[in-house]
Amino acid sequence: MKHLKVASIPGDGIGTEVVEAATNILKAVSDIHGGLSFEFTDFPWSCQYYLEHGAMMPEDGMERLSQFDGVFLGAVGDPNLVPDHVSLWGLLIKIRREFEQSINLRPAKVMKGIRSPLLNPKDFDIMVVRENSEGEYSAIGGTMNKGEDEIAIQNAVFSRKATERAMHFAFDLAKKRSGRVTSATKSNGIVYSMPFWDRVFEDVAKSYPEVKTDSQHIDALAAFFVTQPERFDVIVASNLFGDILTDVGAAIMGSIGIAPAANINVSGKYPSMFEPVHGSAPDIAGKGVANPIGQIWTAKMMLDHFGEEELGRVLLDTVESVTSDGFLTRDIGGKHSTKDVTDEIIARLK
Ligand code: NAI
Ligand code: MG
Repeated sequence: MKHLKVASIPGDGIGTEVVEAATNILKAVSDIHGGLSFEFTDFPWSCQYYLEHGAMMPEDGMERLSQFDGVFLGAVGDPNLVPDHVSLWGLLIKIRREFEQSINLRPAKVMKGIRSPLLNPKDFDIMVVRENSEGEYSAIGGTMNKGEDEIAIQNAVFSRKATERAMHFAFDLAKKRSGRVTSATKSNGIVYSMPFWDRVFEDVAKSYPEVKTDSQHIDALAAFFVTQPERFDVIVASNLFGDILTDVGAAIMGSIGIAPAANINVSGKYPSMFEPVHGSAPDIAGKGVANPIGQIWTAKMMLDHFGEEELGRVLLDTVESVTSDGFLTRDIGGKHSTKDVTDEIIARLK
């Protein structure tokens, strides 16, 4: 019997609605499986919590989370209550950084029954491995002077360790998939970090002779996501390139409401965190119309992470059977509620 302890942080806005939906689905999944059980512990850390306690989480928050096998997060942020830089850095980004979740994994694929904005999409199924700890998102730099002489300098940081780690992760993943890795580069324009990135990619590739590789400049790659996404399988990208590319990935799938993400701690020293790509969607919060699929697919990624890939496949197939029969929320052109879609998935799982 595999027993998994999961810290659940619904957070703000629709986070609370979609986490409840996905948690019920995970319970249904473990019921059918038998050999697997989940124990969820809820943490009410959110903007509301901040107003009551003056912090997004208690002082021993990280220590408490470290006792769990995984963190299941909805969304953080309610700019009417707390400025975004305070709420996100006090919870979401704090967990990513302090738990050394150095890989951000984001899939993009054609979902049956969900219309892609692409005209005639072929059947694409991409996994972007984004370096999540350094690169262009570094706090090194500064500003000087004022007015017309003002200067801003922002440094990008590429360490061999973190770059290799992202690439090994991508190659290991490719071995389980189609055996192809594409590196997102820009060594024709960025003359130190990207040639370094290319060199590390070539070095790491030598340990995986069975995996096919290619390198694409990020601008061309972004265009190919729109014109020929079926060309790609696993893509490894720096923090900024991966961030932009995965938003394009969510867009070509048809809605940000269905896109999932996993923040992986590769060493296993700390828990990994599973969250959808979307935010708290204040414009639709409380109405019961949020699309739960991003959170449910995130749950599938958590199953994969715990070695339950077969169950993960069953879950995603069930979601697709529901979407292809027209059980769709408003954001993807339907009229069903969060609950309708969730109940239908649970019924079919059983
Ligand atoms: P958002 O992702 O919350 O919403 C953007 C648009 O997509 C809205 O029109 C929303 O209704 C729609 N949408 C998002 N998720 C949906 C779903 N599951 N079903 C149906 N429609 C959905 O981004 P926005 O509005 O820029 O940010 C709102 C708040 O969320 C801010 O405080 C922001 O900082 C925070 N945020 C948090 C993230 C996280 O926790 N990972 C990520 C992005 C934003
Ligand atoms: Mg983004």
